[in-house]
Order: sequence, then structure tokens, then C-alpha cells
Amino acid sequence: MIDDLWYKNSVFYCLSVGTYMDANGDGIGDFKGLLRRLDYLQGLGITAIWLMPFQPSPGKDDGYDISDYYGVDPRYGTLGDFVEFTHGCRQRGIRVIIDLVVNHTSDTHPWFREARSSPDSEYRDWYVWADKKPANAGTGMVFPGVQKSTWSRDKEAKAWYFHRFYDFQPDLNTSNPRVQAEILKIMGFWIQLGVSGFRMDAVPFVIATKGAKVRTPVEQYDMLRAFREFLQWRQGNAIILAEANVLPETDMEYFGDDGDRMQMMFNFHVNQHLFYALASADSRSLAKALKATKPRPASAQWGLFLRNHDELDLGRLTKAQRDVVFRNFGPDKNMQLYGRGIRRRLAPMLGGDRRRLELAYSLMCTLPGTPVIRYGDEIGMGDNLALPERNCARTPMQWSTEPHAGFTESDKPCSAIIDKGPYGFEHVNVAKQRRDPGSMLNWTERIIRMRKEVPEIGWGDFRVIATRDPAVLIIRYDWRNNSALFVHNLDERPREVSFAAGLPGDTGKLLVNLLSEDHSQANERDQHRLVIEGYGYRWYRVGGLDYLLKRSDIDTKAGGNAAHPA
Ligand code: NOJ
Ligand code: CA
Repeated sequence: MIDDLWYKNSVFYCLSVGTYMDANGDGIGDFKGLLRRLDYLQGLGITAIWLMPFQPSPGKDDGYDISDYYGVDPRYGTLGDFVEFTHGCRQRGIRVIIDLVVNHTSDTHPWFREARSSPDSEYRDWYVWADKKPANAGTGMVFPGVQKSTWSRDKEAKAWYFHRFYDFQPDLNTSNPRVQAEILKIMGFWIQLGVSGFRMDAVPFVIATKGAKVRTPVEQYDMLRAFREFLQWRQGNAIILAEANVLPETDMEYFGDDGDRMQMMFNFHVNQHLFYALASADSRSLAKALKATKPRPASAQWGLFLRNHDELDLGRLTKAQRDVVFRNFGPDKNMQLYGRGIRRRLAPMLGGDRRRLELAYSLMCTLPGTPVIRYGDEIGMGDNLALPERNCARTPMQWSTEPHAGFTESDKPCSAIIDKGPYGFEHVNVAKQRRDPGSMLNWTERIIRMRKEVPEIGWGDFRVIATRDPAVLIIRYDWRNNSALFVHNLDERPREVSFAAGLPGDTGKLLVNLLSEDHSQANERDQHRLVIEGYGYRWYRVGGLDYLLKRSDIDTKAGGNAAHPA
């Protein structure tokens, strides 16, 4: 069973084909190029790729404005190239999940063209219309400051249409059974071409009621079960990873009480509190966030991430907390976005400080869930704040010191390559870091390998172990008669902490360090005393290295709301 639920103990890597590797020299990354880099990804040790939208699109929202759900944008290759890519992944034991962007289409999609052409069009009801400007047109924008409203008038239709995002992304009427059937068809199509599931875009909006008369949208959670059910009829172990930045109270609505809805969700709640913890050296609100997001079915999993292709949304922190994160990680207005977030990449946010980067990565790999790495973060890539909005953190992958970082042979790359300053490709690139045993890349590879060897994190039950020092976070996982324990010091100064592993008998006496030689032996009162350097981290196995012999076939202590035997 643990091997069927592959996403529970996995390492995801998110990338965009257009900025990864250009094989045909036209300046745009393509599937052929990506295929040639799969050996790199296999070496890094990631087990699944989350591929961002690659379907035909005008590209006004980096592909999140799709004009044909059943194709590959010709700039990236053909459907044939796509299948070569999924096949290449399969041969290397790497799974692929792709974006499923069905809250809206591009306004150039034939469905929308049809729909706007006449009120009698069979596609009219695929979108959300109003005769007059709805009273709430000025509310609910996702990109405040850039997006002016959620309703726009379409001249041709002589009517207003609803768009939760930019005005070129008309919302699909997802309550329409025909639209729902089409969504299933799209999933079925890509499953057939070798993907293992989907990262579903904007899930709360997909399932919300939409319309001019809808004052407070209501989530139709049953839709989630229908999506999942269909997917699993087609392929049993395929998954949906939901993009849903929601409050912990509603998490279970998305997972389903019986684990019958989304297999995975991104943990936005923990993400924000994690950045607050890194900025303030205070782990208390992070610990609270971990507890708040703890309830989930045993078969479900969190996607744990640091940065992604969007802004770091801090909208759920208090104003005081948000200000602390802004001050530390994005003090200039130009680094902030939509009045609620930071648009920088991870390395510049953390001042390029290797200790802090390792700390952040170590946390991402050891908090409850499956880590999701953003391409380029494994080498500490930077951003280009001269680019608008979120594009600053979407520059091409830096492979080498060759021209254009080895990304393309063209002199006109689709997006400028970072070539100046400490993050310029001459300094930060894969080829250089491959040769350096102490590089960020090689460190990341090692930490990924270790993460995969500690399934306790993905599968186990966890508890935060109290210390008197808010700068130190200690978490213990228990699973199948084994335990692992992780210590993180969020502060730049060294700390001394005492704690008990909290296990019965002598079980917690010995902590074996997984990353270095300094193990810890508890004193006669079962207390471990530890001096940990500034921004330090420790990965321990509780007990000796005979843990594999001790591992039981079932988890006899699985408590809580386990919906399936783990
Ligand atoms: C969420 C995606 O992550 C973001 O990049 C996109 O702009 C919106 N959904 C709209 O599709
Ligand atoms: Ca190309």
C-alpha cells in the first residue's frame, strides 16, 4: 500500500518547459530540451515533475490562459514530443503531473469565441454572463492593483462576462454539467498520454457558484469527489494536487472526511507561517499552523513548498506578522506585489546566506508533507526585478557559463537570463555546482536522498516537542514502530536546548544523527542536551540504525482520524 500511494513520500519538482532548456535554438524552451535534461533530474533525486501549462495559449498569464486543452503549444513541440517526454520520465521512475487550468479559458479559446458570438450559441452557457454591469464588479479581484474588476463588457456579446482573474481569462461556468463533462474528458486525455495526475489550478474558484446574483459564492465540494472518482476509474493511483489557499477549517472539505476528494493540497497556511518563522526567529505561530493543518485523512498529503511561480502570498498573516516578513525579506515596494506578498525568489530573500537556505530547505523537507521544489532553487537562482509582476522569478534555468547560461543558442531568449550581480549565470549555474562537492546543488541532492529514506515524515504521525526557546522547533514523527526527530534553530545565534524525545522506556535515549557524526545520548533523566549553531538543523533517527529491522508491516499505533490503515 505505501508504494501505491506514491505521493505520500515523494519529492516534487516544478518547472516550466518554456524556460528550462531550448533544443532547437529558437530561444524558447521545449520538450526536446526538457527530455535531454531528465538525467539531471534523475540525478537530483526528485520523484515527480509538476509541469506548468504547456498547451496552446496566447501566453498572457504564462500559459494559465489556455486556448486548446488537447494540444501542445507549437513553440514547445508536438504531442509526439510530449509523449516522448512522459515516456522518458517513466523509464527513469519519475512521475509527471500537469496543470489542469479549468476555472477559466483564454478569451481566444474557440468556446469563448462561439459563446460571445450569439446568445443562442451552444457555448453561451459555458461562461458566466450578465446583461448589466453587476453591482459587485469591483470586488473579489485576485490581482488587486493590476486587475481592475471581475466583470468586463464584451462588445461582441453585448453583455458582461465574469473573470475571477485577468479580463482575458473568462471564467468557465463550472456548474454547467457540460463543462464538468469536458473537464473529465481533458483529464482522461492527458492520463492516456502518460501523466500521473494534475495540479488543479484555483480549486476554490472552480467549485464556487458564479453569477451576477451570487453575493457570497458557495463551494460545491461534491464536484471534487466527481473529479477524483473519474480519475481513479481511469488510473487507480493518479492524483489531484489542489491549489487552494484556504483556511484550515475548510481543509477537510477539500480532502473529504473519508479521503474521497483531493489526494493532495498545497499547504499555504504553513507556507506563510514558515516565512514568518524564518523572518522572526520565532517558531510559535508555525507550530500553531502545523497543528491547525494536522487533521487529514491518512491517504491524503500536503504539498510543502517554499517559493513557487507566483508571489509569496502573506495575506493570511496578521498585519504585524506580515510587516516583519516584508521588512526582512522584501523591504522595497518593488519586491512586493498585490499589496499582500513578495515576488522574489528564495535565495535573494534570504540574502544568499547558505546557512539560511539550508535551514529553509531542511524545514521544507521535514515538515509534514511532500516537498515541492521550484526549479532553479536547487542551485540558489536569483530573480530579475526589472521584469513585471511575477515574471521576475520565472527566468530561464542557468545550466552553465556558456552564452545565455546554456539555456539556448539563440541570441533572443524568450525571457532575459540573469547575467549580472551575484546571481548571474557566471556564478550560479549547474555545471559549476556539479563539480563542487560543497555546492548548494550537491547539498540539495544529498538532502533529497535522505528525505526519501525517512518515510516517517510522509507517513507518520507527528508532534511538536515543547522547548522553552521559541527559536528552536523540534518535531518528532512516529510510524511503524520507528521514530525520527528534527531540530531547527531559526535564530542566527547558537542555542542550547534540553528536551526529552518523549517515548516510553529507553526508546528515546539514543538519537542517531543522519547527516553527521554527532549523535545524542540522553542523561539519566532522559534529557537530551544540545548546542546547536545559528540557523542549524539536526536530523535524527530515534534509536540505532537497526530501524529497518524494527519497522513493522502495519502501523499499530495509527490513531486519530486515519481513514485507511497506514
Ligand atoms: C494560479 C496560478 O498559480 C497563477 O499563476 C495564475 O495566474 C492563476 N492561477 C490563474 O490561472
Ligand atoms: Ca525551442
